[in-house]
Amino acid sequence: MIGRTPTLLAAWLLLVGLAAQSTANAAGDAKHPQAVDWSFGGPFGTYDRSALRRGFQVYKEVCASCHGLNQIAFRNLAQPGGPEFSEAEVKAIAAEYEVTDGPDDYGDMFERPALPKDRLIEPYPNQKAARAANGGSYPPDLSLITKARSGGPDYIHALLTGYEDAPEGVEMRAGLYYNPYMPGGKIAMPAPLLEDLVEYGDGTSATVEQMSLDVTHFLNWTAEPELEARKKTGTMVLIYLTIFAGLLYFSMRRIWADQH
Ligand code: HEC
Repeated sequence: MIGRTPTLLAAWLLLVGLAAQSTANAAGDAKHPQAVDWSFGGPFGTYDRSALRRGFQVYKEVCASCHGLNQIAFRNLAQPGGPEFSEAEVKAIAAEYEVTDGPDDYGDMFERPALPKDRLIEPYPNQKAARAANGGSYPPDLSLITKARSGGPDYIHALLTGYEDAPEGVEMRAGLYYNPYMPGGKIAMPAPLLEDLVEYGDGTSATVEQMSLDVTHFLNWTAEPELEARKKTGTMVLIYLTIFAGLLYFSMRRIWADQH
């Protein structure tokens, strides 16, 4: 009995040690993303309309061929607090796509141009098709990606701009790319951004850095479309509480002024 206690203790220590080791690896092997000074950060942050519009363009022209955005309908692009395209612009954007609708009176499905009420068009009909087209890896839906990854928008931005040649001794299987920001360092997405891949309508120069900032700005909006309203409410509540505290203070002074 006495002889077994140290063995148990040693086994327990070993287990704790192993657990600590594995969490250290999980947290420690990816490069830490540099912090970006996003306009939507801080208690009074707002989205930059131009960045959101440029970011949508990058999503539409580059990312949308592999990634869906299934939480977003075309009409959301016109709502306050977002890219705020006009109704006419949204109609025109939607009309570039075809959706399957129906059944009609004869029971047949039919194709029609997309309408503002439709959701953005998925790149693949299902997950299997998506994997088949991407060497077995699934390009995740990007609607909530800035919330779904630790590091949020900083991580997405760092990932998009962080591709490097694999260091000496790191074995890369075909179809995997080295990216130190990805946990494990290997990602099945080829670097999606190249200089001047899109042509911005507002004359902004389309560097990899700029496109990465813009598309991440846009993806933060898809994950948090209510951010501006939420921050505005927070500010109003703070102002209200401050005024209320002031009133309370002065009325208490008056009420108690005669008491000595
Ligand atoms: C050619 C197809 C393709 C294109 C284009 C593409 N991606 Fe990907 N993306 C993938 C695949 C495949 C994965 C899954 C990678 C993996 O799991 O290793 C992925 C993964 C991701 C991830 C998740 C990384 C993680 O932490 O798991 C993000 C974020 C992402 N892509 C953003 C983008 C953005 C933004 C664009 C446009 C600028 C884009 N992708 C363009 C194929 C693509």
